[in-house]
Amino acid sequence: MKAKQKKIFTHHDLDKVKIEFKDDATAFNALKKEKFEGKGKLNCLISAKIFEVLIKENIPTHFIELENENTMIAKKIQVVPLEIVLRNIAYGSLCKQTTIKPGTRLSKPLIDIYLKNDELSDPLITKDRIELMNILSSDDLDLIINLTLKINVILKNFFKNIQLQLVDFKLEFGYDYENNILLCDEISPDNCRLWDLKQKNDTIVSLDKDRFRNDLGGLIEAYSEIHRRINDFL
Ligand code: TMP
Ligand code: ASP
Repeated sequence: MKAKQKKIFTHHDLDKVKIEFKDDATAFNALKKEKFEGKGKLNCLISAKIFEVLIKENIPTHFIELENENTMIAKKIQVVPLEIVLRNIAYGSLCKQTTIKPGTRLSKPLIDIYLKNDELSDPLITKDRIELMNILSSDDLDLIINLTLKINVILKNFFKNIQLQLVDFKLEFGYDYENNILLCDEISPDNCRLWDLKQKNDTIVSLDKDRFRNDLGGLIEAYSEIHRRINDFL
């Protein structure tokens, strides 16, 4: 998260922060930008619900509570400068950088890790380079990868219940003041690819930020639909 889509404020309790979700959308390292009225609120509410689902399953997260529809209170953390992407189905950059065809179901989840660095345009990075840069110890990297795999099982089932296919997603992690690793950032259609399983034929209907990335239109309608399905289910 490059905080392009969120604003972080201090909290009177110094172990906490307030995170305000904005209506801005960016794609392709902010080359593409647009404002969508209501997106901040939808992502904040969707993320809060999903964090609650994960917390119930004993996933450590930064989420504490909602302050209002656009703002959540979270534990203050030191963010690990990595983006952990997990893919169940090949799409997006995986298909641009390899010969794998879009829509291919992967026999096991693929984890791609990117360095969060705007100047370098978030390059794909290796485990050895992560250690070389002293970003994380090998044990903590393993812990983050295992948490990501566990989160995938929980989220895949959760979204299947509301007829959505979890294609891929991006997670971020951080350390709290006691050095615990916590899931942070957000879980929303901005950082998950979600395809509509209500679609009868094989056409892909994206209910996520691909509507903006690929100029498909109807972004707010798609995010509202996800919010509605989550609320009806929980
Ligand atoms: P990708 O196919 O572009 O690599 O994206 C994989 C997943 O990660 C997709 O769900 C979108 C998400 N993502 C982010 O949340 N932030 C980013 O900066 C990028 C590149 C991808
Ligand atoms: N969030 C990234 C950006 O701000 C890219 C993306 O999600 O596609 O550019």
